[in-house]
Amino acid sequence: MRTRLLSAVGAALLLILPGAASADAKQGEQLYGRYCVMCHGPAGAGEIGARTGSGPARDQKVMEGAGPSLRGVGALAADFYLRTGYMPLKRTGIQPRRSRLLLGPREIDELVAYVASLGSGPAVPSPHPERGDLSEGQHLFTERCSGCHQIVAAGGYVTGAVPPRLQDATATQIAEAVRIGPYVMPTFTRRSLTDAQLNSIIRYVEYTKNPNDRGGWSLGHVGPVPEGLVTWFFAASVLVALCMLLGKRLRRG
Ligand code: HEC
Ligand code: HEC
Repeated sequence: MRTRLLSAVGAALLLILPGAASADAKQGEQLYGRYCVMCHGPAGAGEIGARTGSGPARDQKVMEGAGPSLRGVGALAADFYLRTGYMPLKRTGIQPRRSRLLLGPREIDELVAYVASLGSGPAVPSPHPERGDLSEGQHLFTERCSGCHQIVAAGGYVTGAVPPRLQDATATQIAEAVRIGPYVMPTFTRRSLTDAQLNSIIRYVEYTKNPNDRGGWSLGHVGPVPEGLVTWFFAASVLVALCMLLGKRLRRG
């Protein structure tokens, strides 16, 4: 909440003081030289770009694990990769994972401003899950996302990568991830998934963070079969106990 407030204030300041953006980007450039240049090349040209002038896009480099070009990825990608702790990556060739933040919020703002200044790319999105529809979201999630992230968004396994659980992601990060398609995740364009549909998906993911279990025991949301088994287990023990009790009484009587 506080960081949101701060970034809102920050955004307002950027609107009032056009000079502030470049000051941020200047600071960001220094941080870039320290934490990012070894993989992403000078001025975000990509690792190969350091030698040939134009680096490859992310998808072509995933297998080799070198840093892709950051030109045109925009504030959106920088905000996602830095605020999740995916970047700076510890070493090449590994899947970026959510991790403890090495950089503070101020440094991240500066780096985001710097990466955004490298080319014209998308801004940080502001989704509205409250406008979404929960059942549409569940439907879309089942169709588009659950193959990798599981039906209750608890994470899963695919070849060569571990789709994370989604309960740690903020609404903004979900909107960003869907448009980026980090690592082996597919990119969903506005054509294949509209902003309105995205709002519904986010609403559903937010719901999985705090599902409204109507009484009873959720059993980790594993589904009806084990839940049924548990019922039988309890019911059976109660029945056996009852029989024993009745039997005792009958024998006594
Ligand atoms: C050890 C090498 C390494 C370091 C250090 C590193 N990166 Fe990366 N970066 C990568 C790789 C590899 C990918 C591709 C990851 C993927 O496919 O999801 C990547 C992806 C990204 C992306 C997404 C680009 C896109 O096409 O959407 C951004 C943004 C980014 N890095 C920013 C940074 C910033 C900013 C830093 C410094 C704080 C940094 N990275 C440090 C290797 C690195
Ligand atoms: C082909 C498998 C696949 C599909 C389909 C997929 N994802 Fe992902 N997703 C991944 C992987 C793998 C990552 C981890 C990326 C990384 O480590 O760089 C990820 C990361 C994410 C993250 C970041 C979570 C975090 O906290 O690190 C979000 C949010 C996300 N996906 C949402 C979605 C949504 C919403 C959909 C459906 C519209 C979807 N994904 C479809 C594989 C998939």
